[in-house]
Amino acid sequence: MSELILNEIAKKFNLSHFLVKSWIENKSLLEEKEAHIFFENNSKMIKATPFVKWVWGKRQLIKQLENLFPKDFNNYHEPFLWWGAVFFNLHKKQSFLSDINSELINTYQIVKKHPKDLISLLETFEYSKDFYTEIRAWDRWENWLNDYSEIQRAARFIYLNRTCFNWLYRVNSRWEFNVPMWKYANPDFVQKENILNVSKLLNETKATIKLQSFEKVLDKAKTGDFVYFDPPYDTLTNTANFTSYNESWFGRNMQEKLRDVFVELDKRWCKVMLSNHNTEFIREIYKDFSDKFVIVKARRNANSKSSWRGEVDEIVVMNY
Ligand SMILES: C[S@@+](CC[C@H](N)C(=O)[O-])C[C@H]1O[C@@H](n2cnc3c(N)ncnc32)[C@H](O)[C@@H]1O
Repeated sequence: MSELILNEIAKKFNLSHFLVKSWIENKSLLEEKEAHIFFENNSKMIKATPFVKWVWGKRQLIKQLENLFPKDFNNYHEPFLWWGAVFFNLHKKQSFLSDINSELINTYQIVKKHPKDLISLLETFEYSKDFYTEIRAWDRWENWLNDYSEIQRAARFIYLNRTCFNWLYRVNSRWEFNVPMWKYANPDFVQKENILNVSKLLNETKATIKLQSFEKVLDKAKTGDFVYFDPPYDTLTNTANFTSYNESWFGRNMQEKLRDVFVELDKRWCKVMLSNHNTEFIREIYKDFSDKFVIVKARRNANSKSSWRGEVDEIVVMNY
């Protein structure tokens, strides 16, 4: 693809030239194998994989985290849910899953409760620019949360996630989803079998799925529980926030608030794990746990600062 076209795409989508180039050139970044879990349901082994995609391939990191999960624990908590990176890698446990993104949480709830209705609706959706534009525009209506059913909103979320440019989640200042469509060879936005299996998994693990901010984890987490935090990354550069997951920007004050929650869970004898970029700031705010720091490699192609291209260190903070 010529530099001119790359430049045009970057300009149109308000992304850096390097970001677009690396995504287009480095296909392997987009084609890593999915995380998955096998579980037993009615004496059959069933496979479930994350049904939400995210711009950064995290599977490489999860492989390294797997060795660090605690051997024993009671319940499991994932308060920055997004694609459920660790949930889909753990064995059956009662799970408390939450996130602050209302469309994401509504989607998990519908997958759990009404997978068949969701699939039937998704099967009527078309992969075309006109259809994408129409569905994306639902949130431009003032009253859209009342005008569309929860099942319609869940179908919209999955459809947009699977067909938009690099599975980004970005909203503008009016909280309207504004990522353009992308041409994929064959985007599976229905995922029939997987949605049914994820639904079974959510029911098997008695998953509680809640719309709430991360600090509410303190309401339910008890001694012996395992909590994994995958917060929005601490910034590597001042311009790194081109991917916002929700309406609010997760700044350093929020990272400190999260550290306070980490400390409180530690006092309760919960087993706590957090991953983030390995920045000086993160090392400083978690210095009381520095004897448990583990540095893992994560591929990070989408950054315009050359020193951060290629593999970037990610820090894992644990209290056990
Ligand atoms: C996608 S994960 C982060 C993965 C990875 N660390 C990264 O930055 O690309 C972040 C998730 O945190 C959620 N989130 C942001 N602020 C939150 C908050 N205050 N409480 C709970 N979830 C929040 C977002 O909605 C999103 O689903």
